[in-house]
Amino acid sequence: MGNKLSIFGGNSNIELLDEICKLVRVKRGDAFVGRFRDGETQVQIKENVRGNDVFVVQSTSFPANDNLMELLILLDALKRASANRITAVLPYFGYARQDRKDQPRVPITAKLIANLLTRAGASRVLTIDLHAGQIQGFFDVPLDHLYAVNTFVEYFEKKNIENLVVVSPDVGGIKMARAYSKRLNAGLAIVDKRRIDDTEAEVMNIMGRVKGKNVIIVDDIIATAGSLVEAAKAVKNAGVQDIYATITHPALCGPATERLSASPIKELIVTNTIHIEKSKMIDKIKVLSIAPLLASAIKRIHNEESISILFDEV
Ligand code: R5P
Repeated sequence: MGNKLSIFGGNSNIELLDEICKLVRVKRGDAFVGRFRDGETQVQIKENVRGNDVFVVQSTSFPANDNLMELLILLDALKRASANRITAVLPYFGYARQDRKDQPRVPITAKLIANLLTRAGASRVLTIDLHAGQIQGFFDVPLDHLYAVNTFVEYFEKKNIENLVVVSPDVGGIKMARAYSKRLNAGLAIVDKRRIDDTEAEVMNIMGRVKGKNVIIVDDIIATAGSLVEAAKAVKNAGVQDIYATITHPALCGPATERLSASPIKELIVTNTIHIEKSKMIDKIKVLSIAPLLASAIKRIHNEESISILFDEV
């Protein structure tokens, strides 16, 4: 594409934004993204973007509503500044867990956010490990969906752990777990989880052989760590050896850090789609950068090249 490539971002994850800019070899776009005295989000694009191919990097992680508003207002400002094409890059796409009416009179927030993003000015969307793949269909603009699996698999290949079984902490995560087990040439097991409420989960059964094995529990998001820790306890009781966990989006809220510390998990490997505050970092958490994957995708989208080379079919 002949248009100049620009990368802007909000305040959700400045470290990731700068890492991406460095890898793409562009200077971070100059914008003020702050607050008015009354708390409203204030944005001003401080350079000319007329005709540019613009990427806006912002995860809608905690504080989700502030980060979402920053993204929407950035998109609006860039559209009104006559950018040619605007790609909303959401390393973490929040509000995704409400993706269907599973109770009476509840919203479908994933669809609402899709509508808001496109109405605000997104011509296309780039994201990683959506909570449910079918959220792609909530958008009527092109959406590129990347997977963090290869980033994690490279890490585990170097560790060379024998006798490995990949465990999905719930039935909804089977597809993701199968992708890991295929790549790692490992077994597959599933935990039959029942969610009690927003912070508590209960394990009913384990399907598959785990006794005497080393396991990796894989999931898209860790919030209160209820699902992960209950799954870890269940496989521990079933007689496994070492327990690892790989989770793409480290939302880590409420009791997550305490639960992880007290859990039998040896190592939790996450990506930096969500910035982790220092107070939440503990020794057993290892962060892998997703910036190389996003930077390659941004370059390829800008150059109108295929991005399927960045992932095999999951
Ligand atoms: C559920 O379907 C998700 O994949 C995660 O397992 C869940 O949202 C994690 O939440 P928490 O850490 O609060 O159990």
